[in-house]
Order: sequence, then C-alpha cells, then structure tokens
Amino acid sequence: MKRFRGWALGLLSLTLGLLLTTVVASASYLHTATSFTQQSVNEGDVLVVLVPEDAGGVRVSGWSDATTDHVKRAMAAADFEGKAQQRVEILAPADLMFARLVLLGVGNPADLPRYVAEEMGAALAAHIQGSKAESIVIDSRLVTNPGVNADVVSAIAHGVELRSYRFDRYKSEPAERPGQRYQWVVSNASAAERAYNQLNALAQGVFIARELTNLPGSDGYPAAFAEYARQQLEPLGVVVTILDREQIRELGMGSLLSVSEGSQHKSHLLVAHYKNSDDERPIALVGKGNTFDTGGYNLKTNAASILRMQTDKAGGAAVVGAVKALAGQQAPVNVVGVVPLSLNMISGEATLPGDVVVAGDGTTIEVANTDAEGRLILADGIWYAREHLDARVIADIATLTGAKVGALGTQYSAIFSDHDDILATLREAGELTRERVWQLPLDGYEDVVRSRIADMKNTGSPGAQAGAIFLRHFAGDTPWVHIDMAGSALIDSASGIHPEGATGYGVRMLTEWVKIYSRQH
Ligand code: BES
Ligand code: MN
Ligand code: ZN
Repeated sequence: MKRFRGWALGLLSLTLGLLLTTVVASASYLHTATSFTQQSVNEGDVLVVLVPEDAGGVRVSGWSDATTDHVKRAMAAADFEGKAQQRVEILAPADLMFARLVLLGVGNPADLPRYVAEEMGAALAAHIQGSKAESIVIDSRLVTNPGVNADVVSAIAHGVELRSYRFDRYKSEPAERPGQRYQWVVSNASAAERAYNQLNALAQGVFIARELTNLPGSDGYPAAFAEYARQQLEPLGVVVTILDREQIRELGMGSLLSVSEGSQHKSHLLVAHYKNSDDERPIALVGKGNTFDTGGYNLKTNAASILRMQTDKAGGAAVVGAVKALAGQQAPVNVVGVVPLSLNMISGEATLPGDVVVAGDGTTIEVANTDAEGRLILADGIWYAREHLDARVIADIATLTGAKVGALGTQYSAIFSDHDDILATLREAGELTRERVWQLPLDGYEDVVRSRIADMKNTGSPGAQAGAIFLRHFAGDTPWVHIDMAGSALIDSASGIHPEGATGYGVRMLTEWVKIYSRQH
C-alpha cells in the first residue's frame, strides 16, 4: 500500500510539476532547468564558453583585455585547442562575476555530429553535478553561424538533460528540483529554442521510457503501465485504447493471455495511435511489455538472473516513449504503438511447460519453456497490428534473448528482417542516435521452432534466431523487423547520456526511424 501511494504521489507531483513550470523544461524527473537568451549574462557559479577549433584565442564581448589575455595563457598552458570534447576549467579571472570558467571545445561546429554534442553536454552535466554549482551560463556566441549555433547548442543542451534525469521517487528525500539552472547565451534565441524544442520532445519520450522501465515489478504491473502511458499520451492528441483480459480473450489472443494467468495482474494490450499525416496505413511499433519476468514455471532460479527483470518492459516503454516524442514533435507521421503487457508469474493458474496455447491468428503454440514469454505476447501484438490496425510496416522491439547479449553485448541491438529498406533505414537511425543495430540472419533457420505436437513451439536454437523466426510468422506478408535489445535496458553506473538505472534505450532510434521511413514510403 505504501508503495502504491508513492506511485500515486509521483504521478500527482509529475502532473503538478508540468502545470506550474514556466521555464522551458523542468519536470519532477528532470534535475535541470533550461533557458535561452541573446543577452550577455554576467553572473553565476560557472561560465562555460564554447570554443571552436582554431578560434585564435577567446574574445568574449564584455571581457577586459586582462581577462582575455589570462584566458589565452590558460589555454596555452593546458594545450587547449578547441577540439571537440576538449574541456579546461580554471578559476574565473578576477573581474568576472563567476567562480569558475570552463572552456569547452566544439571542433569545427558545422561538422560536429549530433551524438558527439550530446556526449559533451552529458559530460558537462556529470561534471557540474559533482560540484555545488547551481547556476551555469553557457556562452555560445563564438559559434557565429546562427543555424550551426542553434544545432550545436540544442544538441549539447539535450545531452545535459538526458544525463540529468533522476529516478528518486522511492527515496524518502528526493533531490530538490531543479538542482541546476542552465542559461544558454546564443546568437539567435528563437532559432535555438526551435531546435531545442524538437530535441526536448525527444527527451520527454526518453524520460517516460526510463520511468516505466525503472518501475519495480509490483508497481509497474500491466494496468498501471497502461494508465501511465494514457496520462502521458492523451494530452498530446494520441488516441489511446487499452484492452483488458476479457477483450483480449474475445479477440482470441490466447498467447498474450497465457503469460499473465499466474498473476493477479492479467494481460492488457495498449494501443496508442498518433495520426498527423495523410498516410492511410500506420507504421506500427510493437514493444514487449512484460512487466516482470520470473520465468514462470521455468523459474529463473538464481538471484542474478531474476534481479532487474522489472526491466523486461523496456521494449514497451521505448514504444510509448517514441510515440510521445513523435507527438511532442508534431511529426508528420501516422504511427501506432502497440504494447502487449503481461506479468510472467507462477500460481495454480499459470501455464505449465508443454501446454498448448492458441494465438489470435489461430496458430497453435507449444509452450516448451514458460521463460520464452516475450515472443508469446509479441506474437499477438504483431498480429493485432497487422489484422486490426492494418499496419503498413511493423517494427517490434524487445528484451528477448540472453543469446543476443552473448552475440553482440550491449554495443548493438540485433535486427532481423527480410526487407533491405527497413534494415537500411534502421541502420541510419541507429547511427544518428548512437543506438546502433547489427543484422543477424533469418535465412536457413526456418525449422528451428518446429513442434512435434503443435504448429510451432516457443523455443529453439540458436536462441536469438529462434525468437525472430517465431515472430516473423505473425507478421504474415506485412513488412516487418524484429529488434532484440536485450541487455540495453539498464546500466548499473552512469555513462555518457545515461544516468544509472533505466536507459530509455530505443526511443531515440525508433523516433528517428519512423520519420526517415515515413519520408521514404
Ligand atoms: N527477458 C528474457 C531475456 C533477457 C535475458 C533479457 C537477459 C535481458 C537480459 C527472456 O524472456 C528470457 O527469459 N529468454 C530466455 C529464453 C529461453 C528460455 C528460450 C533466454 O534468453 O534465456
Ligand atoms: Mn523470460
Ligand atoms: Zn522476458
């Protein structure tokens, strides 16, 4: 009960935080506030100056000759040349009303890749968080081209924010918000804000994906996940439909249904449709929303394998986050998010190993292993997207197999598809956002999920391909790709744009992919 109250209070304060805020971005999960100005800001804790390579010294308007000379000597002493990601910090010269001065290299700003700018912002945020500084002023005016200035500043600010998310709703004393205020001095405030707003919408998608993924199993059960998504999406014009157990049963989706029968929290299906284009048929994103994975009767029997299995809903969270980001950006797309939600548990009602379930499309499935539950819920999610939503393309994303982690680690997701244009566009989105993907083959593995007693079984070897081959069946003739993101849902210690905990992996890649694919088809 206490836990549930914490969850409800969290929702309430999140809502209030959004209503009362006046700064550009500040919500209860975000630790920073962001604003833009064209005027010099002459006071604060830290002054950060963005320095292009070969700028030939740093001359900021308002600085005395003595200060300019001091900074020039500091740069020389530190071998600072303004290369991208170079950073030097000094005690601020005496006539500046700041405690510290940071020089941050941006290389050739016109060629600075977005992900490098994001990493720079994240590293800056991590550095600032380790200090007492509350007010940070970033002067970007040495990046003179207004368009380039807006792109560089917005991407660095985006990186700051991605790193500044906090999941402390379960702490008895959550950190004060905002902890740090970032003021960006830019060459054109409206251009910077326009660019920033697009990335901020993306960040909001990442944040709710992290929030959903981080939720402990007992609080983030299927209906709670679905309601949270509804609250987040409906205000943006997304049409949200939530199917409960009875509706799922009536539609014949016995495969989705079967995974939660051992739990008091039954399966749900979340459908979130954002239509902002004339395309008749939507792009469907289908995410695995297994809100906790005990394994079922094929119980995960060692402490390490079951711990953190609340993150088994990360694929579903990524889909909700991507739909939120696209709606927040008012992207000209027709996209539908489908999240089959389950809770894989044991009880007298739970599926037994060897049971046969019937999927929505009529396929009979031998449940050879109750721990291969992700493909059981995705089978019906994919079929629903094809049959009931008339999707023109389907991308599913899931923390599906340990085998994927063995093959690729966490540096890449595994992708499987028979369609080169889908693979190519996903690769493009993956490189842009540094949520990278690598293709594994389907050809030659057709028989790995053959069952002796039913149409298919839910296991096979090799493991990652078996999952993909199983899922392909349910897409039928609809162009389809499977993204296995196992291992990428959560990190134990902060790194780059990710604070510790849930990463929100997939939101950024999927958001870009939907836009790229939509432009080409
Ligand atoms: N959720 C797991 C996959 C997983 C494992 C994700 C490790 C993240 C980290 C999935 O439901 C699962 O249990 N897969 C089994 C399938 C097997 C029983 C066929 C696996 O990969 O071991
Ligand atoms: Mn499992
Ligand atoms: Zn699982």
